Formats: sequence, C-alpha cells, structure tokens
Amino acid sequence: MSKQQYHFEFEEYDNSSELPAADAQLLQKAREVTAQAYAPYSSFYVGAAAVLANGEVVTGTNQENASFPAGTCAERSLLSTAAALFPGMAIDTMAISYHNHNGASDKPISPCGICRQALAEYEKRTHQGIRLILGGQEGKVFVIPRSTLLLPLGFSADDMK
Ligand code: THU
Repeated sequence: MSKQQYHFEFEEYDNSSELPAADAQLLQKAREVTAQAYAPYSSFYVGAAAVLANGEVVTGTNQENASFPAGTCAERSLLSTAAALFPGMAIDTMAISYHNHNGASDKPISPCGICRQALAEYEKRTHQGIRLILGGQEGKVFVIPRSTLLLPLGFSADDMK
C-alpha cells in the first residue's frame, strides 16, 4: 500500500477589481447574463460567459423545467452553444456567476459534478484546458487554471479502451 495525494493550486482575489482587465470583463458578462436564467423553481440564477480560442464570446444560463431533472446548468448550456456555433473550437476561459432570489451573491460557486464531467470531455475533445473564473455579483473570486483540476480521478473514454 502507498498513500497518494492530490493537490492543486488556484488564485484567490478579494474582489473582481484585482483581476486583469479581460478577466474582470468576462466575469462582468457572466454576472449580467444571470438576468437571462430561467430558474422559477430554485430561484438560483446562474450565468456563464466564455471566451473561445478564436476570440468569440459565448454565454449560457441555467434553464429549468417543471420536470426537474430535465433542467440544464449554465455551464452545460454554454458548452452546447459553443459546440453548435463554433464546432471544434477550444474554450480559453469560462467565467461563472449567479444571484439568488434577492439578486445578491457574495462568494464563488463552482460547477456541479455533472458539469465537471462535461467540461472535462470538452477539454479533451478540443485538446485544451478551460480556465475558470468563479465569482458572485461581488466578493471573492477564484481562478482555476483548468477545469479538470476539479475532477481528480475522473472517468473518460480512455477508461473504456
Ligand atoms: N446550477 C448551475 O446552473 N450551475 C452550477 O454551477 C450550480 C447549479 C443551477 C442548476 C439549477 O437550475 C440551480 O442552479 C439550482 O441548483
């Protein structure tokens, strides 16, 4: 037996004004698109904005459904949009924000397990890591160098060979 360890580093900023300008702008876009979320059941409005390798910016929001499992998270909604509009194009950075029923949020959230799996597959098929910027409407911001850092020992197509 040998003990194994998993360790990763990410950046933490006290607020978005400390970010490089392009990152602050992308997070601002994610904050704004939360207004387009369809979340009548959870009242938890999530927005994502990503800059692609070709410089295009795409967005996504959570889209809920009365049949709850049919709803989709903002991150996967963005991935589908990116794949549909710009097939094969890598994603450089994705910013994710949200607000609650009061319109407020002051700490980062990070992608759910299913979205981590979807992000990992997107990274793999485009041969590039996706940098994540996580922040609420205000407060601390986390920058994760690539999304798969959030999915240690993840399952992928390689495991089916
Ligand atoms: N949600 C997202 O869109 N992204 C996340 O990272 C976390 C959760 C959505 C799913 C659901 O519509 C609502 O937030 C509450 O879970």
